[in-house]
Amino acid sequence: MSAPGPVGLVARLDGARVVVCAGPGGVGKTTTAAAIGLALAGRGRRVAVVTIDPARRLADALGLGTLANDPERVAPDRLAALGVEPPGELWASMLDPQRTFDGLIAELSPDLATRERVLTNPLYRQISGAAGGSHEFTAVARLHDLVADERFDVVVLDTPPSRNALDFLDAPDRIAGFLEGRAVQALLGQGRTGIAARVARRGTGLALSALQRLTGVDVVRDLATFFEALGPLTAGFSARAVAVRAILRDDRTRFVVVSGPGPLPSAEARFFREHLRTVGMPFTGLIVNRVEAVPAGPERDGAAVAAGLSAVLGDALAAKVGRTWDEHRERAARDAEAVAELATAVGDPRPAVVAALDGEVFDLPALAAVRDQLLAG
Ligand SMILES: Nc1ncnc2c1ncn2[C@@H]1O[C@H](COP(=O)(O)OP(=O)(O)O)[C@@H](O)[C@H]1O
Ligand SMILES: [Mg+2]
Repeated sequence: MSAPGPVGLVARLDGARVVVCAGPGGVGKTTTAAAIGLALAGRGRRVAVVTIDPARRLADALGLGTLANDPERVAPDRLAALGVEPPGELWASMLDPQRTFDGLIAELSPDLATRERVLTNPLYRQISGAAGGSHEFTAVARLHDLVADERFDVVVLDTPPSRNALDFLDAPDRIAGFLEGRAVQALLGQGRTGIAARVARRGTGLALSALQRLTGVDVVRDLATFFEALGPLTAGFSARAVAVRAILRDDRTRFVVVSGPGPLPSAEARFFREHLRTVGMPFTGLIVNRVEAVPAGPERDGAAVAAGLSAVLGDALAAKVGRTWDEHRERAARDAEAVAELATAVGDPRPAVVAALDGEVFDLPALAAVRDQLLAG
């Protein structure tokens, strides 16, 4: 009897409580996260998929309205048409960083007054809504909430299209670290006027007061009141960072690296895999998406194809079809080689390979086609 071969990617996700899909932007992370959700629902699990910036049409296909921070259930009859039956369920949501952040402040505030002070602070909106960082931070905040939600067996998390695909791993630590840091703690220790004086004494004080004269906004005072308002939440932020770190390192958390066959995404995928190793987080498998499929039919080269067609199409057109055929085969061969190299580099002997579909993936049947390839891979 021969030794069993490596298990396919979806089977490796059995028993997972969290699946994080990570990798460079644009490779199909959102699409594969949704397809993994569908696959796991098909295995009888109650799945919540958190998508980040899904293409509008994919969001529509999943039945997500514009304000779908909370998971919405994909109708059982639409799932049944794709072969997903109870107890399997698929729920999908779109990450809304502002609402998630507001919810977190509300949850961590020891009392209503603190909460109002933070939420109504003029700097809060700008800081919490700042494009960078907030997606990373709120993605893990959302993960924390959904893991605790008993409606779901497993949460599949798409990750933000950040320049650094790894930012979200330590986002909670960064925020907690910042609030616990000496600078902020020193400011908090000063009392309101003390803070203003201290900020003003530093080099930035000059720039800030110039800004204040220009804009009429009292930046120093606003900063001071903001940090003062956040003070009571510091311990809560730290505890949350610890809880999130525990979730990310749990045995039932799986990291899937999504890549494309091109050199750039492959390089980023390798880098990501290395980083997981460095921070001691588990790597479960590789998905290579949008791979050129080998053309179906007999293994013929372009010249043979052209010869067979010239009687029907004429020489010129037949030669063109022959050339296209060859290009297609070359691309497929190049992609197959790239997949094999990447698989070796990241250490997944059986990566899931998803072919480039003819159209985009914006409806449930197309999503099911991606799922079927994940299951086959
Ligand atoms: N296997 C595939 N075949 C064809 N189109 C795909 C495939 N995977 C993803 N796409 C399309 O590529 C685009 C980017 O996919 P998306 O999942 O949004 O990427 P990311 O989340 O990594 O930025 C979308 O328009 C999606 O429909
Ligand atoms: Mg995306």
